[in-house]
Amino acid sequence: MTNSESLVNHFKAHHHRATALAHPNIAFIKYWGNSHEALRLPANPSLSMNLAGLQTVTTVTFSDDFAADDLIINEQRLIGPRLERVTAVLDLIRMQAGLHMPARVESVNSFPAGAGIASSASAFAALALAGAAAAGLDLDEADLSRLARRGSGSASRSVPAGFCQWLPGSDESSVATSIAPPEHWDLRDVIVIVSQVHKAVGSSGGHRLASTSSLQSARLAGAEARLAACRKALLARDLAAMGPVVEEDAIMMHAVMMTSHPPLYYLEPATMAIIHAVMQWRDEGIPVYFTIDAGPNVHLMCEAAHGEDLRTRAGQLPGVQQIIVSGPGGPARLI
Ligand code: DP6
Repeated sequence: MTNSESLVNHFKAHHHRATALAHPNIAFIKYWGNSHEALRLPANPSLSMNLAGLQTVTTVTFSDDFAADDLIINEQRLIGPRLERVTAVLDLIRMQAGLHMPARVESVNSFPAGAGIASSASAFAALALAGAAAAGLDLDEADLSRLARRGSGSASRSVPAGFCQWLPGSDESSVATSIAPPEHWDLRDVIVIVSQVHKAVGSSGGHRLASTSSLQSARLAGAEARLAACRKALLARDLAAMGPVVEEDAIMMHAVMMTSHPPLYYLEPATMAIIHAVMQWRDEGIPVYFTIDAGPNVHLMCEAAHGEDLRTRAGQLPGVQQIIVSGPGGPARLI
């Protein structure tokens, strides 16, 4: 055996590596609040679309040569709470695989950090898949969705393809499944970015505050009905039926945020200007609806035929910094 061959064999025996890709997703019915924080069991069901073209690619390497877990995102080494959150998911993988090696996690996002596109969904979906594969675990889609959920709730929905529904329930039953493949409907998400500023309170902190709003119980009481209406309209490709439900659901979430203790204000003047523009565009006959996550940026929902027109129109509004147009994306996958 040559020297380099023995090095290669050493590497194979002591390193376990896999790379996975996952898309972020935009929720049409929002997840806001947990019934069990550590397990990330959601207080209500949610429904989303994976976003094609935007992606996180993550390589996980387990090796005895490492002293501790290492996290590198966009070529920057991260420590503290963000590393701890990744280690918690790696621990679940190591426990199941009976593996005791530290891991190096290298992750690259194709979309701008802090652009209000939740990178935790694609990040933890890619981490779950790459980590499980590197550890030699043979997990099915539901197992992977549950594993991703433990890292970030919305990541459960970035594991299956296309349009995904995530139901609450117990640890075992709280899993996201695809209700329609990406080819089902050529919807567009025109993402209108008005601020790149990193938010003071992120989703995890927000979920903890949800129950302090007296409006949360009203939001939860109607969530199942909104999900059913949204799912029915989505399966029928009926944007006129789906849009108003999606808008109401997003605004109810923001009402909960603004009435929490302490309150969370994510909406900015530019956000409101876009909401008013959307209503005006609809009056002019363009079928377009909005949704907003835990930030000031606005996602415009429309069919493919109106995507470019809306990109142009949104680009003319005050305070708009960047626009990204996306459509239905595939599942998390090994590459
Ligand atoms: C407003 O999944 O980001 O985007 O589980 O704490 O990571 P963690 O929260 P996260 O919450 C998503 C909140 C939301 C709505 C949604 O995507 O459903």
